[in-house]
Amino acid sequence: LYGAGRRNSQGLDLSNEQTLQSLELALTESAGVRWTAQPMLSQAAPMVDAGWKPVRNPANHLDIVGRCRAATEDEIESALKSATEFAPSWAATSPAGRADCLERAADLMQARMPLLLGLLAREAGKTYSNGIAEVREAIDFLRFYAAQARNDFDNHAHRALGPVVCISPWNFPLAIFVGQIAAAAAAGNTVLAKPAEQTSLIAAAGIGLLREGGVPPAAVQLVTGRGSVVGARMIADARTQGVMFTGSTEVARHLQQTLAGRVGPTGDPIPLIAETGGQNAMLVDSSALLEQVAADIVGSAFDSAGQRCSALRVLCVQDEIADSLIAMVRGEMAESDVGNPAMLRTDVGPVIDAGARRGIEDHIEAMRAKGRKVHRLGRHARAVIEGGTYVLPTLIELESISELTKEVFGPVLHVVRFSRQNLLAMLDQVNATGYGLTMGLHTRIDETIERVVARARAGNLYINRNMVGAVVGVQPFGGEGLSGTGPKAGGPLYMYRLIAATPQDVLS
Ligand code: NAD
Ligand code: ALA
Repeated sequence: LYGAGRRNSQGLDLSNEQTLQSLELALTESAGVRWTAQPMLSQAAPMVDAGWKPVRNPANHLDIVGRCRAATEDEIESALKSATEFAPSWAATSPAGRADCLERAADLMQARMPLLLGLLAREAGKTYSNGIAEVREAIDFLRFYAAQARNDFDNHAHRALGPVVCISPWNFPLAIFVGQIAAAAAAGNTVLAKPAEQTSLIAAAGIGLLREGGVPPAAVQLVTGRGSVVGARMIADARTQGVMFTGSTEVARHLQQTLAGRVGPTGDPIPLIAETGGQNAMLVDSSALLEQVAADIVGSAFDSAGQRCSALRVLCVQDEIADSLIAMVRGEMAESDVGNPAMLRTDVGPVIDAGARRGIEDHIEAMRAKGRKVHRLGRHARAVIEGGTYVLPTLIELESISELTKEVFGPVLHVVRFSRQNLLAMLDQVNATGYGLTMGLHTRIDETIERVVARARAGNLYINRNMVGAVVGVQPFGGEGLSGTGPKAGGPLYMYRLIAATPQDVLS
């Protein structure tokens, strides 16, 4: 983690009997909790009776996890007003003072991990191992940016922007949500956080912990609701001085267009950090160790039900080994347990909602109709699958990567083959998709590694390992091209996009 002697957060050892027992007890207790999400503003919200919607568990639609409601126009206005009024005080708070609050929130998050795991499973369909990784990442983001503020930032040399709108996706509903807030707030900005509508309960729990850690209510406010309404309203508002967005490439483009029509107080453009989708490929040549490759493929493509921006979408495999590798991957897929993430043995949970499932199933059917070979495998109980929004792990053999025109955000792995002399030509086709988030390479030939490293267009390139699970402060994460603007999250440059020009910059 940032700075000497600092370490990444601790997980839970699920092979330890005692840890398991106390986790199971906490999870049983959390199964009965009904959560609530509504705007969490600087001014205490008056009671609002209208607009509440039930939140259903994607693994079991009979389980009502809680209820949520969107911010009203008055609440959005109130949030923008207090974020603007409080901006000078928060910017004048010492970086160490800001860091203290974030670090206390990180400690609270570590202590409440079991409760958060229960909520992550029930609202976002996260397995416990995915949930643990998610809570750890959120804690790491808090500590990383707090440490950077403490070590590198000085209010005289680093001027905060003012109110910053943070818009986050449902697939990392705690880690990315908290990570954006932590960076913006540590840099001295007031934050208006707009979580994905599918995961407002987790967002509200995260804001609760920030408040308990001492973050002033006006420094970070939760503004719930639909992106195209609440998010769009805040981005178009003249008081918003910066935007952090993680989500789809289409929405990022739209936000960029809106912001292009706006300028900051001195005529300067409004900074936008956009971290978006990918068409992530793994190249495998015939020198690779097939047993290891098969496990890395299955982990990269189907972990989190394929709902990671970093997930493997296209396996590019050398002809000679393609049939053997596909047979091994199919074997591993057939062994994976698909089901309720609240069961410890589950490998693949549900996708987030019915709309997501429909989009993925439509894609699979379109490929089948084109005559592509489709393999759907996994151990599952029909009754469980029917109660939630599940998609079985699927492998589709394509003729060309150009058949993929968009990111398929679920447990679907595409396979294309290349001939021995064409590995670099295959890489050029991957680059030509325009996306550049993650890439994988399996080879034992050093020269191939050097050539691919020099030519790959990807933010994060993983060699002879799986290609998900970047660690904060160790593997800064972010893409290029259609996959994002940079700077990378969890890296040393990120917070510098969240401040105005320093006096030195202005003078030079
Ligand atoms: P999405 O773009 O549909 O939504 C993301 C957020 O934007 C949500 O909070 C949504 O409410 C908001 N939004 C939607 N329309 C808006 C508008 N017109 N104005 C303002 N806000 C708006 O994405 P999603 O389905 O929530 O997330 C999945 C996508 O996120 C995938 O494409 C995935 O690859 C990407 N992602 C990228 C990264 C990364 O680090 N590069 C990380 C996670 C997810
Ligand atoms: N940080 C997440 C991963 O690397 C997106 O999988």
